[in-house]
Amino acid sequence: MRQCAALAGVAAGLLAVLSAPAAGPRPQAKGGTKMQAGIQKQAFGKTAEGTPVELYVLTNGKGMTAKIMTYGGIVTELLAPDRDGKAGNVVLGFDDLKGYLAGHPYFGAITGRVANRIAGAKFTLDGKEYTLDANNGPNSLHGGKKGFDKVVWKGKALETAAGPALKLTYLSPDGEEGFPGNLATTVVYTLTNKNELKIDYTATTDKATPVNLTNHSYFNLAGPKSGSILGHELMIAASAYTPTDAALIPTGNVQKINGSPLDFTKPTAIGARIKELMTEPLGYDHNYVLRGGGKGLVLAARVHEPKTGRVMEVHTTEPAIQLYTGNFLDGTQTGHGGVVYHQYQGFCLEAQHFPDAVHHANFPSIILRREKTYTQTTVYGFSAK
Ligand code: GLA
Repeated sequence: MRQCAALAGVAAGLLAVLSAPAAGPRPQAKGGTKMQAGIQKQAFGKTAEGTPVELYVLTNGKGMTAKIMTYGGIVTELLAPDRDGKAGNVVLGFDDLKGYLAGHPYFGAITGRVANRIAGAKFTLDGKEYTLDANNGPNSLHGGKKGFDKVVWKGKALETAAGPALKLTYLSPDGEEGFPGNLATTVVYTLTNKNELKIDYTATTDKATPVNLTNHSYFNLAGPKSGSILGHELMIAASAYTPTDAALIPTGNVQKINGSPLDFTKPTAIGARIKELMTEPLGYDHNYVLRGGGKGLVLAARVHEPKTGRVMEVHTTEPAIQLYTGNFLDGTQTGHGGVVYHQYQGFCLEAQHFPDAVHHANFPSIILRREKTYTQTTVYGFSAK
């Protein structure tokens, strides 16, 4: 981060923040530099259609910085302190918009209108069949060909008591990617004073529609250039998952995981049992059913990276979380600072409703009706030990 915005008062602060010249970094006790809290906006290029894209830089004054752009609501960089207080980027991504426009596997993006898979790219709602874009074999994945990860959101900088925030809004028109209803969607990213990236999603519709939103950040708590994440120790607060077929479509069962290589109830290195999985490609790409999930903000997962000491805790209001270990990363993407992304170089913990919920009455419903408001909150909290 080259510049750092100054924040004076609350009301005047926002304007000041958006236009303020750089204030110098302040020295921090243990090695790193702490920037003053605030949010700063900068131009980040244009899409192929010529739509301008902005990058917002959120700084919380406690050692964390989040860079989030209006294209796809993508978290391009997330800097968190290690055990020596040194801030380092912990997510996969590219240095410029071009990298994202060239195509990528949802790095940092908001995925929707329906994250994860819908079998056969169709569903029936209130007696009517809807056909979606099939973008993953015969199935729909993460909202279709042009999902929420590829649209330009409207950004607004906010100063909240919890910390600097970016409000993103997008009106997904009726029929977009085959989904019914105009869906007014808001996503607020707050970089809290407690070193959390908090994501609040809300949506309303004028026609019943399925909605399942998440964030698809790939984390590497030692920094993406450190290589594989298989040494990260992971705990997931789940004792069941939703088994799938080979195309990752749920069978509809909810199965216990006791003692199997899927069991992360006790902190275990991600790679410890990965070879025992019978998947192709090899790796985790599983939907975990959270204990007490869907009933308020609960602890879903904790990850500890032993070399840097960084710890990430995930709390969510969602009933489930998808663990994906970057199985499809194959060295064809070159990210920040020329780092090539190989298999297992990042992991995702995507808080969500169950995949293909539209086809399984026993899964929590993802249907949003006209008079209701969809809400979901997920908090990625950072510390070091
Ligand atoms: C999700 C899916 C994976 C894969 C990635 C993107 O996590 O579950 O199977 O499609 O997105 O590559």
